[in-house]
Amino acid sequence: MTTEHVLTELQDRVCTIRMNRLDKKNALTTAMYEGITAALLKAEADPEARVILLAGSNDCFTSGNDLADFLQNPPQGDDSAVARFMRTLATARKPVVAAVNGIAVGVGTTLLLHCDLVYAGEKTRFHLPFVNIGICPEFASTYILPRLMGHQKAAELCLLAEPFDAATAREAGLVNAVLPNDQSEAKAREAALKLAAQPPNALRTSKALLKRWREDLVVDAIRIEADKFIPMLGMPEAREAMGAFMQKRKPDFSKFS
Ligand code: COA
Repeated sequence: MTTEHVLTELQDRVCTIRMNRLDKKNALTTAMYEGITAALLKAEADPEARVILLAGSNDCFTSGNDLADFLQNPPQGDDSAVARFMRTLATARKPVVAAVNGIAVGVGTTLLLHCDLVYAGEKTRFHLPFVNIGICPEFASTYILPRLMGHQKAAELCLLAEPFDAATAREAGLVNAVLPNDQSEAKAREAALKLAAQPPNALRTSKALLKRWREDLVVDAIRIEADKFIPMLGMPEAREAMGAFMQKRKPDFSKFS
């Protein structure tokens, strides 16, 4: 299941799925979404895997969707690689623990809303830059964020759309604990090992119940957001923003009404 940019390892009943495209800050391509989804499904089906650990490196979790891929190969709908990845993570039966470090941008932040435990390095920079790049938030974040932190905080993070630090993420309820950068993955692994030693059926049933009351709404929200998000990718605001990033210049939104 391991690919060049998605590494997987099963050890002590913990399946680690690691994003590994460091020269591009772990920007997620269609192939990477497919690789992560395949690894999640394999772990879900493997009785030897009781817990899933999602990680990047000590410097970088992920810079979000690959912007060049967004321009050249935009997702087309419910059957796209990114849509399948989102549904698979949002409905995973086994516990998912995330170790976040360095950069957690876009889907690198919103995917955390679907994990069960999240441990962040103290220097992690989180960011929900969707509006800045001419699109809208995704992965049910418009449903979950206001309920997690209140409308005003969610609006601050999504509409002002400035990067925020690990202490803010902790205060907002996005992460369980903040640790020195070189300790966050070890802490996440320790938690994963504790979960792996729990009675597996009780663990899965309890996770299912914790998610049960909103799972249908979350899956609906992913689709409803995508209905807005996908056409926005082709619109001039997004093309200007993403083109500007690729050309290493500041975007100019002055001509849009
Ligand atoms: N998509 C495509 N390429 C990306 C990328 C992304 N999301 N994030 C980083 N890269 C590439 C850069 O283009 C650069 O490539 P190059 O070396 O060929 O020029 C390389 O990764 C290193 O990125 P760089 O911007 O030089 O690193 P940095 O440490 O200065 O900044 C970020 C890191 C994450 C803050 C910055 O890269 C960024 O803002 N990326 C875009 C994030 C984004 O908007 N994601 C989409 C959310 S929906």
